[in-house]
Amino acid sequence: MQQTFFPQEFRKKYAALMGSEAETFFDFCARKMPKSIWVNSLQIRPAILAKDLRKKSWQLKELFHENAFELEGVEKPGSSEEFKNGLFNLQEKASMIPAICLAPQRKDVVLDATAAPGNKTLQLATLMNGAGRVVAVEKNVERFRVLRFNVKKFGLKNVVAKRMDLLDAHRKGIFDKVLLDAPCSSEGLVRKDFDALKNWSNELVLWKSELQKKLALKCLETLKQNGEMVYSTCSLSPEENEEVVQSVIEGGNAELVEAKVRGFETRPGLLQYNGKKFDSTMRRAVRIYPQDNDSQAFFYAKIRKTAT
Ligand SMILES: C[S@@+](CC[C@H](N)C(=O)[O-])C[C@H]1O[C@@H](n2cnc3c(N)ncnc32)[C@H](O)[C@@H]1O
Repeated sequence: MQQTFFPQEFRKKYAALMGSEAETFFDFCARKMPKSIWVNSLQIRPAILAKDLRKKSWQLKELFHENAFELEGVEKPGSSEEFKNGLFNLQEKASMIPAICLAPQRKDVVLDATAAPGNKTLQLATLMNGAGRVVAVEKNVERFRVLRFNVKKFGLKNVVAKRMDLLDAHRKGIFDKVLLDAPCSSEGLVRKDFDALKNWSNELVLWKSELQKKLALKCLETLKQNGEMVYSTCSLSPEENEEVVQSVIEGGNAELVEAKVRGFETRPGLLQYNGKKFDSTMRRAVRIYPQDNDSQAFFYAKIRKTAT
């Protein structure tokens, strides 16, 4: 059996962060995750797809949203006709929570800020019932191709995919909602790929943190006043999470709002780390630990743009 690779620096950091739960945390990080799907409700009603898949002896467990199901004992769901025809997407359950928390409405104009391969783009489009508009931005050429392929495969008529560097965006105050699922050190991917932490280092975390702060401030600029943004990463490093959110609220025209999603176990954001104190409202940010829901690690926070 393949062993999960944990760099020493990572072990040290998370032994301190997790305290008495450290061994449980490492144990879950080294386990394979259950598979889950998000139903493309623009093409088929979730209950109907679930019925069809159960007829093929798939075991499906309902999750926290009518589009979300966990699979049990289905070896290759990606080889099914239903997947190839875009009736569902394979998406890890913790990664579904940020888009649900954003709660885009049918009339909204939404920015999916760093969008490829488009897992959350599909979620946004379906949560809006195919109405409103989602602008899905991606910088990387190869990843943009995959995003465009997925938008077509899922038949997302309310999505416009744009290849651009988000940091070059200059229009301000135009979006009702923004999802920034930021590029990160990808710590949370360790349950999908045993070698995911091979290139992990604290330097990488700090480098990502600087980029995330720039992206988050840019996203805030693009929001209308009273508009809402969800910032998320699949990392648990405070430098990539609370520190980034702190830099946004220190900008002066942003506040954190409650962000829990019913049916999913979460922990509050940290109020301090490494001698740095964060705003007392940081408890409204959300940490998702692998051991709580047998999921990927994740972090997200919901931020409202206030008057300047
Ligand atoms: C965590 S992934 C996004 C995953 C996606 N939200 C999903 O759920 O399928 C982050 C993405 O941000 C893109 N990215 C990084 N820097 C960017 C920038 N400055 N402008 C636009 N996209 C960027 C990366 O290429 C990567 O595809």
